[in-house]
Amino acid sequence: MKDFRQMKQRGEKITALTAYDYPTARLLDETGIDIILVGDSLGMVVLGYQDTTPVTLEEMLHHTRAAARGTKQALLVADMPIHTYDTPEQAIATAKKFVDAGAQAVKLEGGASHMAQIKAITQEGIRFMAHIGMLPQSVREEGGYRIKGRTQSEEEALLADARAVEKAGAFSVVLEIVLADVAKQITNAISIPTIGIGSGEHCDGQILVTHDLIGLFPWFTPKFVSPEARVAEEIRRAARAFIERTRGK
Ligand code: KIV
Repeated sequence: MKDFRQMKQRGEKITALTAYDYPTARLLDETGIDIILVGDSLGMVVLGYQDTTPVTLEEMLHHTRAAARGTKQALLVADMPIHTYDTPEQAIATAKKFVDAGAQAVKLEGGASHMAQIKAITQEGIRFMAHIGMLPQSVREEGGYRIKGRTQSEEEALLADARAVEKAGAFSVVLEIVLADVAKQITNAISIPTIGIGSGEHCDGQILVTHDLIGLFPWFTPKFVSPEARVAEEIRRAARAFIERTRGK
């Protein structure tokens, strides 16, 4: 595994993108991306659910196996879906299933509240990526995808979460939709790398949902994403060309 802490110390930015299948994982891997995440965002962008909460363990394992077949050099991280890590024992059992499916690390959503689960996973020798800030698995309770760190108490809670996950043995921490200044403070306060999504430029690395980056889910694009391609348009164009060719028009 690349030494992500050393990358942070050297000021080398860490790059991470999602993949849920063999060809995408292989294409990203061939570009030299540092981390490939089999994110439970697949619930929305691949399975057509409204949010990540209906995603099952079986679905995640199925996609992890596919992505693992296409990943050679990047670190393959898999998301543990909601209610598969409610206790430390359950967290270990779930993490082991992902390792058996080909993941080299796992991620779950939560900071100080999940210290016991994170410690249990890292003490088993399984690499762990934390995820704090906006937690998509809690979107229904939260009532939407809102920026975190706007109030003093949110800022303090985020710093405490970041310190807690570092202490529990995480090798990195995703900061999702955290106020840029707060993300900067967290990045300076801990020695493990922060990987931001919608959290400004001061994080040690950046992660995006690949479908957002390449314009493959045109029905919704988060405000903080600047797509680099319009793949959905290409698919539509190719399908129309095929239809016209076949119908002889
Ligand atoms: O599920 C996912 O893709 C994620 C990233 C957005 C960080 O958790």
